[in-house]
Amino acid sequence: MTINTHFQQLPDNYLFKEISNRVEAFQQSHPNARVLRLGVGDVTRPLPLPVVDAMHRAVEELAHPETFRGYCPEEGYPWLRQTIIDNDYRPRGVQLELEEVFISEGAGSDLGNLSELFSSANRVAILDPSYPAYVDSSVMAGREIEFLPCHADNNFVPSLPKEKADIIYLCFPNNPTGTVLTHDQLKAWVEYARTNKSLIIFDAAYESFIEDSDIPHSIYEIEGAKEVAVEVRSYSKSSGFTAVRCGWTVVPKATGLQAMWMRRQCTKYNGTAYVAQRAAEATYTPLGKDGIQNNLAHYKGTAQLLSQGLRDLGFEVYGGKNAPYIWCRVPKGYTSWSFFDCLLNNCQIVCTPGAGFGPSGESYVRFSAFSNRKDCEEALKRLQALA
Ligand code: MLT
Repeated sequence: MTINTHFQQLPDNYLFKEISNRVEAFQQSHPNARVLRLGVGDVTRPLPLPVVDAMHRAVEELAHPETFRGYCPEEGYPWLRQTIIDNDYRPRGVQLELEEVFISEGAGSDLGNLSELFSSANRVAILDPSYPAYVDSSVMAGREIEFLPCHADNNFVPSLPKEKADIIYLCFPNNPTGTVLTHDQLKAWVEYARTNKSLIIFDAAYESFIEDSDIPHSIYEIEGAKEVAVEVRSYSKSSGFTAVRCGWTVVPKATGLQAMWMRRQCTKYNGTAYVAQRAAEATYTPLGKDGIQNNLAHYKGTAQLLSQGLRDLGFEVYGGKNAPYIWCRVPKGYTSWSFFDCLLNNCQIVCTPGAGFGPSGESYVRFSAFSNRKDCEEALKRLQALA
């Protein structure tokens, strides 16, 4: 047996595991400290009642011989896939076929697994900073990566790759900077991909935070994108499903990858849990939608509170609008990890150090707005005391 030596190029720990290890160590040595968790983008609001009711009903079905179900279809139940097409795409003028929508256990796994469809010879372009799974899965596959720096001077909007990129990971609204792209800005990427025969892997996990009307919710709102883009979506952040696990990936037939992805899923994926798919379906009912919108309004409020509060304290702040993340420059003299340690030790606040998202994140930390209002207000108070 020989191992995949590309793994040796990865940092020892995945970013969010490293953070949770440090927080756990701190909590153990300070058992009475009330730690405010604004680090990982994990939701805190309970699931809306109609979603919980749908899960209860699904569990009840599984409890009786006449309604029991076994394996779910690898690509997901048609009723959920059709509901997604009817609610998330058709109203935006995007026509998709049922076979192009694949239900998943969430965006994180598919973003990593999609990498299996491509040879290791592909050159990959990745925004710097970015969600670490794109880099990690490209490194695991031994691919060459071009980083596209995003900093305050370019408003965190990346330039097109210098050398031809075969695969491009884009995430908008962006994690971690909170940047969004207008229709025209995204169109430039679709045109690049069409000209260069590249594939865009479009991570739209934060789509539900978009409020401005000129920001596309799906890459397929751009003409011609179906030939060059796969889109990954999730109920985690939109509907509070980080524990439930459900999302979907659109692999249009025009990319030439749909049959391959289906083949991959049939071998390696035994389908998303029935209860999770019924829960996802319930998010589209009128009452389900109300509950989801209430939770989203709450997080949009905490994003606004945190970004304004940090600004008032004199921090240089980006994001927090159309996105649940606040990207904040660290004070002079700090690195992103040393500021992370300072906030943990002196204020018992957890943030995410920007360097964990790539070298261009070194002077920043990220605050997540997936928290409750009381904790955000308390965090701002503690930061004021620190200043
Ligand atoms: C983040 O905090 O960047 C993400 O929420 C983590 C994840 O989705 O895996």
